[in-house]
Amino acid sequence: MINNEENLTAKTVTPEEEKVETTLRPRDLTEFVGQQKLKKNLKVFIEAAKKRNEPLDHCLFYSPPGLGKTTLAHIISNELGVNLRSTTGPVLERVGDLAAILTSLSEGDVFFIDEIHRLNHVVEEALYPVMEDFKLDIIIGQGPSAKTIKLDIPRFTLIGATTRAGLLTSPMRARFGIVEYLDFYNLEELKSIILRSSKILKVNMTEESAVEIALRCRGTPRIANRLLRRIRDFADVRADGNVTLPIVEDAMISLGVDAKGLDSMDIRILSTMIDKFSGGPVGIDTLSVAVSEEADTLTDVYEPYLIQAGLLARTSRGRVVTAAAYEHLKKPKPQTQTEIPFQGDTPPSKK
Ligand SMILES: Nc1ncnc2c1ncn2[C@@H]1O[C@H](COP(=O)(O)OP(=O)(O)OP(=O)(O)O)[C@@H](O)[C@H]1O
Ligand SMILES: [Mg+2]
Repeated sequence: MINNEENLTAKTVTPEEEKVETTLRPRDLTEFVGQQKLKKNLKVFIEAAKKRNEPLDHCLFYSPPGLGKTTLAHIISNELGVNLRSTTGPVLERVGDLAAILTSLSEGDVFFIDEIHRLNHVVEEALYPVMEDFKLDIIIGQGPSAKTIKLDIPRFTLIGATTRAGLLTSPMRARFGIVEYLDFYNLEELKSIILRSSKILKVNMTEESAVEIALRCRGTPRIANRLLRRIRDFADVRADGNVTLPIVEDAMISLGVDAKGLDSMDIRILSTMIDKFSGGPVGIDTLSVAVSEEADTLTDVYEPYLIQAGLLARTSRGRVVTAAAYEHLKKPKPQTQTEIPFQGDTPPSKK
């Protein structure tokens, strides 16, 4: 048994994987599969900005990990024909870090801030006047002799990405002209992403194998691509490189991915909730301790898909499993589920 399960849903991308992601990353909007409404809107906004010879409005993309936010930032800069500067929220520790990047931008460039919900509040507040008027206030000196100077910044487009829109402050959110949510992908879209990636990676793939992978990748292109690479290894060793349905099924068993695409952590979450908390409601911090996984990872990585798959629900009193979860895990459902006292700590609305 290969113990690669955790890597399939891992939030972090290793440098080696980043290389592969770059080769698989769609370069323009026509290559970007799905998200039709978002693409249609973006096309119009990009066209309009180009026609007026103005920078595109600031954009905010939010979604669970691996659904295409970074990819979109690259595509936008390609479509606009401008440079992309990219950083992440926690890296911008001081206003000086921000100033260094902003003053190096050219007119119309894209400045991408990943994990924008993790900006510290001093940097965030410095960013407000920049987003509005392209002016950065810098304080020089200390104490009573301190002076504020206003630096002119080239007009640029800020693209922010976050997996946690709920943690973004409202003044920040209000300063984005374009705010778009990326949803999980449907089967047809995932299938075409898998077939596209197989072509690029020169993997022989039958249609039914692509569908089977699509069914098990949690609606997420990054996971589809991760599965594809693992399955390619199985195919190389066992079937002269051809990916057929039995190879996919075998690989999924070895990778610990079940028929709904759930991995061992998903199963642990659901069974813990059923076995230890009578199906819930249970607070995220309590659950986090019970399954030994960080609360943030549960909220960012696992929960969105379990909710989308109809196996978990959020209520005002905590998380609860659904009837479908009992069915999927083949566990008997208790007769009455009324009036179970709240067993959590933090109400979910705070997370
Ligand atoms: N719409 C799409 N069409 C084809 N491939 C896609 C699409 N969206 C994402 N991908 C693939 O999935 C990979 C991961 O996407 P990306 O890095 O853009 O996700 P993300 O939303 O930025 O994730 P994170 O929240 O972890 O930063 C990309 O390298 C790309 O190959
Ligand atoms: Mg990203």
